[in-house]
Amino acid sequence: MGIDFKRLAKEFGTPLYVYDLDYMKKQYRELKSAFEGAKSLVCYAVKANSNLSVINTFANEGSGADCVSIGEVKRALLAGIKPYKIIFSGVGKSDSEIKEALELKILMINVESEEELKRVEAVAKELGIEARISIRVNPNVDPKTHPYISTGLHENKFGVDINMAKRMYIYAKNSQNLDPVGIHFHIGSQLTQLEPIAEAAEIIADLVRSLHAINVDIKFFDVGGGLGVVYDDEVLINTQEYANAIKRAIKGLDLTIVCEPGRFLVANGGYLVTKVLYEKRNGNKRFTIVDAAMNDLLRPSLYKAYHKIELLDKKEGEESKTDIVGPICESGDFLAKDINMPPLSSGDLLLVHSAGAYGFTMASNYNTRPRACEVGCEEGECRVIRKRESFEDLIANERLYLKA
Ligand code: LLP
Repeated sequence: MGIDFKRLAKEFGTPLYVYDLDYMKKQYRELKSAFEGAKSLVCYAVKANSNLSVINTFANEGSGADCVSIGEVKRALLAGIKPYKIIFSGVGKSDSEIKEALELKILMINVESEEELKRVEAVAKELGIEARISIRVNPNVDPKTHPYISTGLHENKFGVDINMAKRMYIYAKNSQNLDPVGIHFHIGSQLTQLEPIAEAAEIIADLVRSLHAINVDIKFFDVGGGLGVVYDDEVLINTQEYANAIKRAIKGLDLTIVCEPGRFLVANGGYLVTKVLYEKRNGNKRFTIVDAAMNDLLRPSLYKAYHKIELLDKKEGEESKTDIVGPICESGDFLAKDINMPPLSSGDLLLVHSAGAYGFTMASNYNTRPRACEVGCEEGECRVIRKRESFEDLIANERLYLKA
């Protein structure tokens, strides 16, 4: 879809997040159809981009949701996701979150420790119900991605090891208040190699076989998220091969495949439009100061992540290397380092690509900066789907007790 970013910047101001909802739908359909021939449920990982209109786009496609807080569960419901398609994961759920999730009758709570299992059991008992659960198993497989987004090794805090998982399943099977319906793994994010996922799927499928043998009736095989996307020149996992590897792993088992993609569905459907404020030099070093900062898009600062930046206007003059930096008082506040740009001047617009996943959701109000406006474009029409925060929004919950 040809989005007129310059017009949108003029109309809604900058920094501005723009989402191509048609692209997001296309990604959903590609993945969903790769699982054809098997029972499958795609649960969009809401953390990647939790704008209600984005979630609603997937809800309309029949998607479920993978949530990591009760807030995300409520967002998903509000955006039209059916409760029986919602999974609640995360290493640290509070009692009240567990209670609310059970009351909302979601598909399953994904349990990440033995203590949590007992907590879920206790809360379910209080409510007089049986809680549908899955257990997140840590298969100890190296996903070969950035260490901060690698989750499937024993050194990571996520899930439980296979022996512990077995004990927990047996405990759950014998409990009046627990119904172990699913098994889950998620080895990491921005994965570009299929082998670690296939290996983890084989390990977990074998575990399902041994659980079925002792009458633990697992029905949902949740392979997590993690499919990588192109930021720069990455070679991606083919989605059909990905689905085939999972189908192969569970051959002979009667299971519904669940997957929890976030980035794959939204990253390249999102853009951050930012305006040049100034250019300056410190000695030989050139800086382009723009109106978006690390509070708007944290990924470059936090992970040294690469985001392609495109100049929206043609400019004369010789290109030279520059750092694209924001107005925040931190040396780590940059969107790109050492990229080639012609001489730029105040008002020039830059388009930051691949900003649809973990962009706005990781934004903050650091330096009392309001969070950006979000615009969603669908079938040729662009609408504000979250208005820019005002100063009043930022201080709304604060109380000023003036001392005499
Ligand atoms: N399922 C679970 C249990 C997860 O922990 C995650 C992501 C997903 C699904 C979705 O993963 P995806 O398909 O998006 O790779 N802020 C980081 C990414 C953190 C990912 C956390 N978990 C970034 O900006 O790269």
